[in-house]
Parts: sequence; structure tokens; C-alpha cells
Amino acid sequence: MQSQPSLRLLLLLLLLAAVFLLLLQPAPAAGSPAPAPADDSDFRRASCNVTLYPDVCYATLARYAPSVGRDPARLAHAAIAVSLVKAQRAAEYVSNLSREADYGADRRAAAALHDCLENFGDAADEMRGSLKQMRQLGAAGSGEQSFRFQMSNVQTWMSAALTDEDTCTDGFQDVADGPVKAGVSRRAGAVKKVTSNALALVNSYVNQHAGP
Ligand SMILES: *[C@@H]1O[C@H](CO)[C@@H](O)[C@H](O)[C@H]1NC(C)=O
Ligand SMILES: *[C@@H]1O[C@H](CO)[C@@H](O)[C@H](O)[C@H]1NC(C)=O
Repeated sequence: MQSQPSLRLLLLLLLLAAVFLLLLQPAPAAGSPAPAPADDSDFRRASCNVTLYPDVCYATLARYAPSVGRDPARLAHAAIAVSLVKAQRAAEYVSNLSREADYGADRRAAAALHDCLENFGDAADEMRGSLKQMRQLGAAGSGEQSFRFQMSNVQTWMSAALTDEDTCTDGFQDVADGPVKAGVSRRAGAVKKVTSNALALVNSYVNQHAGP
């Protein structure tokens, strides 16, 4: 009988935890019933068709499908979020290599790694700015002109991010072939694909908005 109160307390805590978890589920957007999953993947497939790397686009955005639905703005936002995560991880990878290279004999490789770290850092900043701008869409006014201005910021920053990523690989031109160069090239290549895709989805969203 002594265990009874603590058992009841445990049950109460479990119940509270369950309610809390239920509250954490994102509510569907007001007014728009959740579309069928099949439609979501068709929408994603068709949207990714405008990108240079549609298969990468389709695969990397899969886990965002529930929150994206069939909303092109949310899809573009998710694509930028994917690029940001990849750029941050690439920066961490380059930072790790850079720490080792500082003790090595290859000064060119060490310098290229330092520049590359800065490039990925800049790219990540530009993506963060883009995400923030997209979250604030409409806050500064609801007109077409305001939309164009806000989205032109996103287009500019995502293009700049892509350029920064190119600058990283360009910096390795004079570095001797080897595992460091190959590793950075592989990482940078993957980041460039998702960034290019994100920019294409942003451009596509802007064009759809202007359309009839
Ligand atoms: C993708 O685009 C090609 C032509 O650009 C078209 O033939 C194809 O039907 C499109 N696929 C989807 C899923 O929209
Ligand atoms: C960077 O190094 C840390 C510590 O060694 C390691 O935990 C992490 O996984 C590395 N990150 C990447 C992206 O290689």
C-alpha cells in the first residue's frame, strides 16, 4: 500500500508528459487542410524539377515534407535550411583539417583551408540572413513591391553564398593533389549542390508569385 501514492504520481507525470508532447505537435496552418502525402511528394518532385540537381533536391527535402506541404515558400525555406546545415558542417570539417594543417609543411594548403573556413562562414551567415528574411515576409508590408524587395535580398544572399563556396574550391587550384584537397572538394561540391538547388527554388517561388 505504501507504493500507491508514488504510483499515482508516476501515472500523473506520464499523463502530463503525453499532453505536453501532444501540444508540441505543430498545428496545421489555419484554413488549409493538410494535403495528402502522395500530393506532397508529387509537389516536391515537380518543384525539384526546376533545380540543377533534382534527385539531391528531392532526397534532402524529404524530411521536411510534413511541415512544407505544398507551399513553395516553405519549400524554399526548407531548402535554405538544408544548405545552412551542410555549410555549417563543411565549415566544421574544414576547421578540423585546418587545425591539423597548421602543424604541417604545406603552407599553401593551410592558407587555402583558412580562406575556405571564412568562405563557409560567410555563406552560412548569408543563409541565416535569408532564412530570417523569409520568416519576415510580409511583415514590412503586403504589397507586391515589398515582396519583391524582400525576396531580392534572399536571391542576392543565396547567390553570394554560392559564390563564396566557389571561392573555397578555387582557392585550392594551386594546392597539390592529396586527401585534403580531395576531401574539401567533395564537401564543397555537396554544399554547392544544395545551395544551387535552394537558389533555384527561391527564384521559382518569386516567379510563381509574379505569375497570373
Ligand atoms: C520535369 O521536366 C521535364 C522537362 O523539363 C518534363 O518532361 C517532366 O515531365 C517534368 N517532371 C515533373 C515531375 O514535373
Ligand atoms: C571535427 O572534429 C571533432 C573533434 O575531433 C569531431 O568530433 C567532429 O566530428 C569533426 N567534424 C567533422 C565535420 O569532421
